[in-house]
Amino acid sequence: MHAAFALAVALAAAASPAAAQVCKKDLLVDDFAKTQTAVIANETRQVDLLGGDYGAVGVGWKVDTAKKAMVLTSLNGTSNFWFAKFDAGACFDLTGYSAIDFDLVGPAGSDMQFTLTQKLPDCSERAPDGSDSAYLALSKYAKMDGTKKHVSLPLADFAKNINGSNYDFIHLKDFTPVNLGPTGAVFEMSNLVLKGGCGVPGTGTNTGTAPSATGGSPAPTGSGSSPQPTQPGQKNGGVRAAAGGMLGAVVAAVVAAVL
Ligand SMILES: *[C@@H]1O[C@H](CO)[C@@H](O)[C@H](O)[C@H]1NC(C)=O
Ligand SMILES: *[C@@H]1O[C@H](CO)[C@@H](O)[C@H](O)[C@H]1NC(C)=O
Ligand SMILES: *[C@@H]1O[C@H](CO)[C@@H](O)[C@H](O)[C@H]1NC(C)=O
Repeated sequence: MHAAFALAVALAAAASPAAAQVCKKDLLVDDFAKTQTAVIANETRQVDLLGGDYGAVGVGWKVDTAKKAMVLTSLNGTSNFWFAKFDAGACFDLTGYSAIDFDLVGPAGSDMQFTLTQKLPDCSERAPDGSDSAYLALSKYAKMDGTKKHVSLPLADFAKNINGSNYDFIHLKDFTPVNLGPTGAVFEMSNLVLKGGCGVPGTGTNTGTAPSATGGSPAPTGSGSSPQPTQPGQKNGGVRAAAGGMLGAVVAAVVAAVL
């Protein structure tokens, strides 16, 4: 009887969400105090403090170590994106985090949107069209007026993908600001942090600072109402997609070009 009881307790514990609850502390993605590079898929890339690379199409980007900011310039207000990955393999598990926080300076009237792009569950390649999170407008969180604003994007707000299904937070490809505009707008992003929390975002189990319990996920944007920027995925042409499969073998040796 004792053994059976112990087994039952063990099974109950295993089934309990509390037992599986993973909590994480705040994680600094980049303070932009220096720049560093790493070799990812045989390519030397500029990376953040987590070893994930930066990149963009239609956006000029440069770390200003004096300002401790990533300076982003919209080169094409019609269609552009900039991305930050949180790991070298572009398959980051957001379990235990609650929000993406940063400070942002942008000209009055400027705006942008945010999406979380999606990796396949085996981390090999980008998931098919429609899998990225719904796009969220910066103006929902902060109005740009030329002064520094704190922006906190609750991960729970990204809970639905473009097609209206659940976004898979365990296989983040990258954090992607898109449609920075208008053309010519210059933004300064600083103190990029993954805020700690508990559980998987958007499931109601996340007890971080995000108001996940009350929902807050945006209405799924179908292809009609969704702003239709170039899918950020176009940054991942055949070469990068092919390289994806090799990521297990990637040695992200930081060669530290400290300025
Ligand atoms: C990286 O270089 C090695 C050695 O030249 C090569 O075998 C491998 O295929 C390359 N990987 C990628 C992703 O290009
Ligand atoms: C801006 O992007 C759009 C969509 O990709 C493209 O058609 C247009 O040529 C681009 N404009 C400039 C100035 O690069
Ligand atoms: C999303 O919807 C589009 C249009 O119906 C479809 O082509 C695509 O396969 C869907 N994507 C996913 C991941 O379900």
